[in-house]
Amino acid sequence: MGEYILEIKNLTKDFPGVRALDNVSLKIKQGEIHSLVGENGAGKSTLMSVISGVYPKGDYEGKVFFKEKETHYHSVKDSEKEGLAIIHQELALSPYLSIYENIFLGHMQTKFGIINWNYYIKESNKYLDQVGLYEPPETLVSKLGVGKQQLVEIARALSKKVDLLILDEPTSSLNDDESEKLLNLILDFKKQGITCVMISHKLNEVLKVADTVTVLRDGKSIASYDVKKEKLTEEQIIRDMVGRDLTHRFPDRKSRPGDTIMEVRNWSVYHPDYHAIKVVDNASFCLKKGEILAFCGPMGAGRTELMMSIFGGSYGYRSEGELYINGKAAYLASSRAAMNNGLGYISEDRKGLGLILIQDIKTNISYSSLGQISRMGVVNNEQEILLAEKFRKDLNIRTPSINQITRNLSGGNQQKVVVSRSLAADPEIFIVDEPTRGIDVGAKTEIYNILNDLAAAGKSIIMVSSELPEALGMADRIYVMNEGKIKGVLKHEEATQEKIMHLALVG
Ligand SMILES: Nc1ncnc2c1ncn2[C@@H]1O[C@H](COP(=O)(O)OP(=O)(O)OP(=O)(O)O)[C@@H](O)[C@H]1O
Ligand SMILES: [Mg+2]
Repeated sequence: MGEYILEIKNLTKDFPGVRALDNVSLKIKQGEIHSLVGENGAGKSTLMSVISGVYPKGDYEGKVFFKEKETHYHSVKDSEKEGLAIIHQELALSPYLSIYENIFLGHMQTKFGIINWNYYIKESNKYLDQVGLYEPPETLVSKLGVGKQQLVEIARALSKKVDLLILDEPTSSLNDDESEKLLNLILDFKKQGITCVMISHKLNEVLKVADTVTVLRDGKSIASYDVKKEKLTEEQIIRDMVGRDLTHRFPDRKSRPGDTIMEVRNWSVYHPDYHAIKVVDNASFCLKKGEILAFCGPMGAGRTELMMSIFGGSYGYRSEGELYINGKAAYLASSRAAMNNGLGYISEDRKGLGLILIQDIKTNISYSSLGQISRMGVVNNEQEILLAEKFRKDLNIRTPSINQITRNLSGGNQQKVVVSRSLAADPEIFIVDEPTRGIDVGAKTEIYNILNDLAAAGKSIIMVSSELPEALGMADRIYVMNEGKIKGVLKHEEATQEKIMHLALVG
């Protein structure tokens, strides 16, 4: 085989009103880890979709060569047969099938028309071991968090013969620990001779594992760096990505928290299916007016579950404990009740809970604030447009029009719509769960600025974050959770990564 496993020549791909890829040429070396970076909407996912046959031959201009043969794929199935596997940014598992069924879906062998299930359960353990996922293979995928689903996807890719593995933002929903494991996994694959293309917004991770880094901007390939030959820094990558320097990633802020606006006492949450299991165990915390709180801890610590359960019982079989808003006991029986009491929620699961993908951007943004822009039940279209246009501008949502269907946006731009919607509802207490997941460095700073301004205007914010630098850079106080319990709290001045880890493990 030649030096390059994949060559892309003069690739151009248009969508109505958008040139997603503009004459891109790119070479991927046999056996390397090649990282693809760029702002939200730069064309990264589209490029990978072209390579893997999501967009069939004829849907784009230019040529793709895989293992020195020009490709003529009609679907992903064709590229899989040749040894190419793609793990999409938005996970594509079947939620109501088990882990092992998902791993082998579409490529199980039958004997006399019968599938040997026990064999596949056993086989699946081999791949689950390889990716470090220790869950019974019979577990339904819908019961797993996004991070674990990610590992199932990788196990699925491994179970087929794969020479080129494409991972579109594999660590976006993982915390530092889990990301590190995943990156080591990718390094292992490299040793086994598997070539990897990894798309990521986490530039420190890119620099840790990549042999080559290619930067896309506005659908064009801007630069390719051989990381072993030349020293590459995050600053250089950012400059290529956004076309300018970006100095302040976290805004300065003077925090002046006021009185307590919300207090949670002895809050416990029970598992939706296994009613005896406490997912959150006796959590107590308070939130002040104008304060930004961060909740950190490993995946499965119970942070999301705690917040969703407070938000009108959106998670859990049931909960116990006391909730006070503005000093008064509050009973929030539904998410609607939570909103009526001044709470807003940005979900980590933008596809499942956050967005109506088949609706346009405008409708998605105004969805939670229809009360403000309608009179006697009739939506004022002009106000709706103004609202959507404002957020498109503020958060730089990349789209030809606010009438665009949300599904057609790039992943990071979908996230910006989710954030816009909650901002538009203008709550007093904001719960934001992984607000910057999949968002590029520039737009992250925009979101931090907005959260900061909200706090300065007296709104209160609870941020669930797996990115420690984000928590350290933004929060007035950091609550650390693990195994369903609050293990401790750190003030902004005293918090460090080490102290957070220590609290999570030791308490
Ligand atoms: N099916 C589609 N219909 C219309 N436009 C699309 C479609 N898919 C992608 N686009 C547009 O193509 C451009 C590139 O999108 P792409 O998803 O490749 O970006 P990306 O680099 O992966 O961004 P992100 O980091 O946010 O995931 C964007 O402007 C996007 O809105
Ligand atoms: Mg993408």
